[in-house]
This record gives sequence, C-alpha cells and structure tokens, in this order.
Amino acid sequence: MLKPETIKEGIIERYSSLVSNSNKFAEVIDKPLKQTFRINSIKGDKEEILEQIRSYDSSVKKVLWYDNAFETNLTNLGSSIQHFSGQIYIQELTSMVPPLIAADLIKEKTILDCCAAPGSKTTQMADIMNNEGHIIANDARHGRIKSLRGNLDRLGITNTTVTLRDFKSFPNTKADVYFVDVPCSSEGTIRKKNTVARKWKDYDYNRFSKLQKNLLKKACEMAPKGSTIIYSTCTFAPEENENVISQILEEENVELKKININGLKLGHGITNWKENEYDKDVKKCARMWPHHNDTDAFFLARMEKC
Ligand SMILES: C[S@@+](CC[C@H](N)C(=O)[O-])C[C@H]1O[C@@H](n2cnc3c(N)ncnc32)[C@H](O)[C@@H]1O
Repeated sequence: MLKPETIKEGIIERYSSLVSNSNKFAEVIDKPLKQTFRINSIKGDKEEILEQIRSYDSSVKKVLWYDNAFETNLTNLGSSIQHFSGQIYIQELTSMVPPLIAADLIKEKTILDCCAAPGSKTTQMADIMNNEGHIIANDARHGRIKSLRGNLDRLGITNTTVTLRDFKSFPNTKADVYFVDVPCSSEGTIRKKNTVARKWKDYDYNRFSKLQKNLLKKACEMAPKGSTIIYSTCTFAPEENENVISQILEEENVELKKININGLKLGHGITNWKENEYDKDVKKCARMWPHHNDTDAFFLARMEKC
C-alpha cells in the first residue's frame, strides 16, 4: 500500500512534462479541495435554497463558470437538511462539466448514461432537462445501483429509468446523447483523501484502457447518425484518454468536436506520449488540470456520429 504523498510524487513525476507550469501543478496537487455543490432546482427555488444555506454558512461562493455550482469552506454539508432533502447535491466541479457541455443538446431528449452510478451526472442532467425527456441510467454494479436509485429518489427525479447491466451487452438503444463516464485509475482525484487506489504504481493502465475502449465502442456502434457521444475519465493517464479516443477515431464513424465553457480554462488533448503517436484530432479533447481552475483533474471528449 502506498501513502498519499508517494502517489502524489509519482503523479508529479509522470505528468509534469505535460504542463507548462510544473511548479504550480505540484503545488496545487498538494492542497486539499474545497467542498463544492450544486443546487437541484427540481426541489426548490435556487435563491431560496441559497438563502437557507447562507443562514449558517457565510463562506458560500458562486462558481464563475456554472450558475448552479457553489463552493464552501464547510466540510459537513453532507449532514445539512438541504442535502437530506435533495435541494443540493455535493459534487466535484470537474464532474459537473460533462452534462454542462451537452446542456444545449439534452432538453426534452433521450439520454443514455452508460456508466451512471452513483448518479452525479444523471441527476445534474435531469435538473438541466427540468425532469422532462428521458434518461436511461445504467450501471453494472448492483451495490452502486442502490446509491443511484437513492440519489434519484432524494432529488425528486422522475424522468429516469435505471438499468443494471454490463454495458458491453446492452441492447441497441437509440438516444440523442450517450454519456460514457468510464471506470478509470482515478488519479485525477488525488486531492481528495484515499480515493486513488493505494497500489497506484501497480496500476495496469492497459487493462483499464481495454475496458474503456470496449464501452465507448459499444456506445459508438449503437449511436444513430447525428447523435452525440461524450467520453470522460478522472485520470491524467493518456493510455486511458487520448489513446482510447485515437483508436475509436480509427475504427468508428465518429468525428471529434471542440469543447468550450465560458470562464473555464481547458487544456487540449495531447498527440504523443512515450513512444505512441495519437490521431492529430485528439487535440480537440479537453483536459482539466488541477492548477488551471483549482479542481481535480478530468478528461473529456465530445464526438458526433457521422
Ligand atoms: C466513473 S464511475 C461513474 C460515475 C457516474 N457517471 C457519476 O457521475 O456519478 C464508473 C462506473 O462504471 C461502472 N461500470 C464498470 N464497468 C461497467 C460495465 N461493464 N458496464 C456498465 N457500467 C460499468 C462502475 O460500476 C462505476 O459505477
């Protein structure tokens, strides 16, 4: 088992060459993350919910690039009545980005969330969709499906069907947008305690990347022409990010689209890593580096089926 400090050092050593300001990268990775949350407007008026929270927490601050997102100095919002009643959802900022980049595409539409539990992004999409349209939220693990159902229930979400299935054998399903938020080595969550596996050095990136590619390939194969596929991970590892996308570009009829959110600094995808060269288009993917916006790390690709 590795100590968090050892994992941090390993991450800094492995990825410093990919960032322009490696000192800042190392400095920010060492700082704890602030707690962040999202208001769930299905359960009430945003301003009223905020007013209630501000009555006991004067540190609440709006996040500049997302109207519904806030940060706080408190660490125990999980025991607040607003959390229990589903008026807020405690969520990392990085995790709020995939639904946000598709916000204009999902209203009144059909969404397939392929790896959905515990439902951070599903519940956010339901809010963006005003609880209308239809989300199919799938996950392969029974224990995590329970958390997903609990979260949907707590947040008052009624536009979502839950399925328990290995997505690799999911029946062909037409949707407007597919979210493929895959299991990964989770290195990007290093600023939170104990969330990166303690055997980090032993990680088999290639094992993850094989699974990730199969999950994404399945979504690309069932996606109708013109639909959108959003792939995301919370790892720095190019093996699980640009490598997977590059292979999919080669094998599937999809095209990468640029990603932009006003006020949020996004890095671009990298086109080579160690001895590997990736498809030049992977530059259109987005990397969230911890020192750019004081967040976790995240990777995103937005594709359109041709
Ligand atoms: C990164 S987590 C998803 C987080 C979720 N999207 C959210 O925002 O709360 C990856 C999920 O993939 C699920 N998973 C792993 N293998 C799977 C498979 N073959 N088919 C479907 N889901 C799978 C895991 O159980 C896990 O819940």
